[in-house]
Amino acid sequence: MTFLFNSDAKRGAIFAEAFTRELPDIAFAMDPASVEPEAVRYLITWTVPDNLARYRNLEILFSIGAGVDQFRIDAVPAGVKVVRMVEDGIIRMMQEYATLAVLALHRDLPAYLDQQRRRIWQPMTPVQATKRRIGVLGLGMLGSAVLKSLRPFGFPLSGWSRTPRIIDSVRCLSGGEGLEVLLETSDILVCMLPLTEETRGFLNAELFAKLPSGAALVHVGRGAQLDHQALVDALNAGHLSGAVVDVTDPEPLPADHAFWSHPKILLTPHIASVTQAETAAAAVIGNIRRHRVGLDPIGLVDRSRGY
Ligand code: NDP
Ligand code: OXD
Repeated sequence: MTFLFNSDAKRGAIFAEAFTRELPDIAFAMDPASVEPEAVRYLITWTVPDNLARYRNLEILFSIGAGVDQFRIDAVPAGVKVVRMVEDGIIRMMQEYATLAVLALHRDLPAYLDQQRRRIWQPMTPVQATKRRIGVLGLGMLGSAVLKSLRPFGFPLSGWSRTPRIIDSVRCLSGGEGLEVLLETSDILVCMLPLTEETRGFLNAELFAKLPSGAALVHVGRGAQLDHQALVDALNAGHLSGAVVDVTDPEPLPADHAFWSHPKILLTPHIASVTQAETAAAAVIGNIRRHRVGLDPIGLVDRSRGY
């Protein structure tokens, strides 16, 4: 029985060490050429290999990341469980990044960076955190953790999900009406939705128009959720005041893309959060143990929802 690790060697070495210690009856492999395809029961990868069908005894396909949109899930045999990454390291890093991004927009950092480049010394009137309303799209593993890390600053916090949720000190909204309320009352909108057919192109001109004038965007979901031109138009028209963008479509952006030099956009190359090998190995090992005693792995993807 083999666990095949199809990602970078550095994290692979940490996984290998954890597997040897915790699950010695499972052979750990990093080179697909070195394994008998029939022996592979577990595969961890970022994208689904074209030759997936050769692993005909595969039981679990693990994503090395939190998202699974890069898998073409309908191409994965129905009996194979698809599991996204649920681990403490990725949560902690997203808490850091989203807090950094919200605070940067709250304290007008894009405008001050632009002023610095133009040698302008011009204070702006600061808005107090209690008057800056934050709205988070997606209340899953990451959205709920980010809201927790924003709580100490005193921002009024709201969040939106597909199904109703309850989170301490957060106004939780759901459904179409809930979305309207969230948008009308979000001075900083943070997108942490998974990419599905329902969320593709979600951040568009119509949505931006519903935000209060002067609102700002943090986008850490997936690039294909964002209409790039609509964001540039809303910023240029002054309806939106700034954006922190970590994910784009395509990645990387072409050299002449407007985001690179837009004075109101802080752009990072999809680094908001990165799976941490030690905690991820522990999570995957825990999931294999659950699977072996007949329990669903944590992070099991619902194929009908796409996340
Ligand atoms: P989860 O599956 O835990 O949570 C997803 C949340 O989105 C849930 O609250 C879900 O609602 C909500 N949701 C999904 N579809 C809809 C919809 N159509 N309408 C309303 N709400 C919806 O995901 P994670 O929090 O773990 O991750 C979210 C995404 O973050 C990942 O899919 C990935 O794309 C992105 N990501 C980005 C990273 C980066 O570095 N930029 C790093 C890691 C992840 P409900 O609660 O009702 O199910
Ligand atoms: C992820 C990512 O999904 O890095 O984990 O975006």
